[in-house]
Amino acid sequence: MKTKFNTVLWILLLLAYQLSFAQAQQKTVDQRVDSVMRLMTLDEKIGQMNQYNDDRIATGPITVDNEKAKQIRNGQVGSLLNCVSTERTRKWQEIAMQSRLKIPLLFGQDVVHGYKTTFPIPLAEACSWDLDAITLSARIAATEASASGIHWTFAPMVDIARDPRWGRVMEGAGEDPYLGSMIAAARVKGFQGDNLGDVNSIMACAKHFAAYGAAIGGRDYNSVDMSDRLLWEVYLPPFKAAVDAGVATFMNSFNDLNGVPATGNKYLQRDILKGKWAFTGFVVSDWGSIGEMINHGNVKNEYEATLSAITAGCDMDMESRSYKNNLAQLVKDKKVPIDLIDDAVRRILQKKFELGLFDDPFRYCNPEREQKELNNPEHTKAAREIAARSIVLLKNENQLLPLSKSTKTIAFIGPLVKALKQNKGFWDVEVPGYDSNFIVSQWQGLVNKVGLKTKLLYAKGCNIEGNDRSGFAEAIKIAKKADVVILSIGERRDMSGEAKSRSNIDIPGVQEDLLKALLATGKPVVVLINAGRPLVFNYTADNATAILYTWWLGSEAGDAIADVIFGDYNPSAKLPITFPLSVGQIPIYYSHFNTGRPATSDNNRNYNSSYNDLSIFPKFAFGYGLSYTTFEYSNLKLSKNKMTPDEKIEVSLTVSNTGKYDGEEIVQLYLRDKVGSIARPVKELKDFKKIALKAGESKPITFTIDKEKLSFYNQQLQWVAEPGDFDLMIGASSENIRLRDSFELL
Ligand code: NOJ
Repeated sequence: MKTKFNTVLWILLLLAYQLSFAQAQQKTVDQRVDSVMRLMTLDEKIGQMNQYNDDRIATGPITVDNEKAKQIRNGQVGSLLNCVSTERTRKWQEIAMQSRLKIPLLFGQDVVHGYKTTFPIPLAEACSWDLDAITLSARIAATEASASGIHWTFAPMVDIARDPRWGRVMEGAGEDPYLGSMIAAARVKGFQGDNLGDVNSIMACAKHFAAYGAAIGGRDYNSVDMSDRLLWEVYLPPFKAAVDAGVATFMNSFNDLNGVPATGNKYLQRDILKGKWAFTGFVVSDWGSIGEMINHGNVKNEYEATLSAITAGCDMDMESRSYKNNLAQLVKDKKVPIDLIDDAVRRILQKKFELGLFDDPFRYCNPEREQKELNNPEHTKAAREIAARSIVLLKNENQLLPLSKSTKTIAFIGPLVKALKQNKGFWDVEVPGYDSNFIVSQWQGLVNKVGLKTKLLYAKGCNIEGNDRSGFAEAIKIAKKADVVILSIGERRDMSGEAKSRSNIDIPGVQEDLLKALLATGKPVVVLINAGRPLVFNYTADNATAILYTWWLGSEAGDAIADVIFGDYNPSAKLPITFPLSVGQIPIYYSHFNTGRPATSDNNRNYNSSYNDLSIFPKFAFGYGLSYTTFEYSNLKLSKNKMTPDEKIEVSLTVSNTGKYDGEEIVQLYLRDKVGSIARPVKELKDFKKIALKAGESKPITFTIDKEKLSFYNQQLQWVAEPGDFDLMIGASSENIRLRDSFELL
C-alpha cells in the first residue's frame, strides 16, 4: 500500500516538474520573441507576414519580381515557398542574415505524399486505415524534406471530400469525419515528430480552412454553401483533430463559405480557430487568396482585401503582396490596430524559435545529412510496404489472385505498364540532383518478382486518352499466348490534383474497349486501375476477372503491385470514400439521412427518394475492400444495454480468419442514433480496428462506447448526447454489416 502511494507521489512530482519545465521553456520562447519584437520597425513586422515563391518552381500563378533578394535583405520577407535543397535554402538564408535583425527565413513546401521518396497519394494511403503506416510516411517525408533545408510542409490537407469530380479529392482522406480526423492527427504527428525543435521535424499545416472540399459541382476554387451544422459535424472535425495533435500552422482557403471568402472569414479564423479552439500557431493564406477576394466581390481593392484578411486572422500572405503593399497604410489610417500585427508576428516568430532557427538559421542546411537521408534504403522499404497497404482489392472472381509465381506466361498490357513518373501522382517534388524518373515501374516490379520460368509479354494496347485502337491487335495477340492477362489502365496523374476537376470521371479513351477485346480472348484479366479519384468503370467492374485499385502509389509502385498480385502481401485496404455508379449520383456518401420517404431497394420507386433511371446504391461502398482470405465475425456482446452519460459500454466480438491466407481485417463500428432532436444519419463510423490474423486464427476485439461517441451538434450547435435508443452495427464495410445490437442512453 505504502509503495503504491510512493509511486503515485513520484509520478505526480514528475508530472509537476515536466509541466513547470515546459512552462519555463515556453516562457523563454515568449521572452525571446518579445525581445526581438521590441527591436522591430513596422515594416520589418510586416515583412515577417510576407511570403514569396522562389523563382524556380511554381504551384500557382507567378508574379515576376526581380527584387526578392533586395527585399529579403531589407527584412521585408519572412518566408519562401518552393525553395528546395540545402544549396538553394542556404543561398536565401545567407541573404536573410544580411538583414538588420537577421531574422531567419522559413522555407515552406508542398511535401504532400513524400519528398524524394514518393509515397501513395493521401487518398490511397487513407485506404490503409493504418495510422502507424500513415504516420511513418509523413515522418519519412519530414526527415527527407528537413534534410533538404525545408522547415514547413503545406500538408496535411484535411478537407472532407464527397465529390470525386473535384480533382483534389486525391489529397485528403475521403468522406468521413471520424476517419478523416484520425488520419489528420496521424499525419500531423508524423510531420512534426515529438518536438518541433528536432532537426528532422517540420511544421505541418492543416488546410484548407475551411470547407474547400465542398466546392459546388466539384469545380475547384468554387463557392461553398453549407449549413453551420454540416460544417461543424462533418467538415470541421479533422481540423479540430489537427489542432489537438499540436499542428503548428493552418492555411485558409480559396473558396467562399456562404458568401464570405475563407481568407477573410473572421468566424472561421478568429472566432473558431484562434478563439474557441485556442490555436496558438499561425495562419497562412493560400496562394494569392488575399488579392483574390477582389474577384470574389467582397472587397473593392487590395487595401480592403488586406483589411479583411488581417482582421479575420490571416497572419501570413502567400504571394499576393497585399500585406506588403497595404498593411502599413492601414495602420497609419488607424484601420488596423498594431496589436493585430503584433499578434501575427508573434505567432510567426514563435515558430521560428521553436524550430531552433534563431539558434542556428542553417541547422536544416547540412549537405551530408541531405545526402544521407535522400539515399536512405529504409525509406524505400517503407514506401513499398505502405504502397502495398494502400491497394484495394475490389474484385477477385474464382480467386484468380494471388497469381502463382510459377505462372508460365503473363501478358502485361496497357498504357501505364511501363510508365515511370505517372506512378508518382500529382504532388511530387522535383528534387535537384535526383533523377525524378527513379521509380520502380509496374513492368519492372513484375520482372523483379517472377522467376526465369515465367515468360512476360508486353503490349501497350492504347493510349490513356484518344480513340486510337491500332494497338489492340498486338495486345490481343499476346493475350492469346498467355495464361493470364494483367491490364493497367486509368487516368494520367495530372488528371487529378489542384485545378483538375472533371465532369466525366469514366476511365478515359478506349481503355475499357481494350479490356473488352482482351476478355473476348477468354483469358482471365486482372485490371489495375490507376487514378487519383474514384472513377466510374461499370464495364470493368462487371466484367474483369479481378480488379486492384492501385491509385498512384509512388516511387515503389511496381514492387508493391507485384507484392500484392503474387500474394507476398495480402491486400487489406478499404475505401475511405464511396465509389459512385454514375456521376449522376454525386454527392453520394454512406452517412446520409433517412429522409421521410426512404428508398430501400431499386425495385420500388413508388413515391420514394430514388432515381427513376438509376440505382440509388453506389458501385463500391465506403469501407469496402476484399482480402485473399475470408473473415467471420461472431460472438457480439455488450457489457450492458443501458448506460447513463457517465458510464461506458464495452463491446466485444470475435473475428476469425476462415480462409487459407494470413491477412488483416479492418473491423468497423457504426452507430445510429434512432431518434434525435434533429435527424441523424442512418449510420456513422465511430471506431475501427485493424487486426492481423493468421489463417485459421481467431481474436477477440473490444470497443468502448462512451458519451462522446453518442454526441452530435444539436440545432443550437451544442455538442450533446441525447437520451434514447442507438443501433450498433459491426461491419466489414458500411454496407456489409455483420453483427448488430442496440442499447439505450439513459
Ligand atoms: C495552392 C494550393 O491550394 C495549396 O494547397 C498549396 O499549398 C499552395 N498552392 C502552395 O503550393
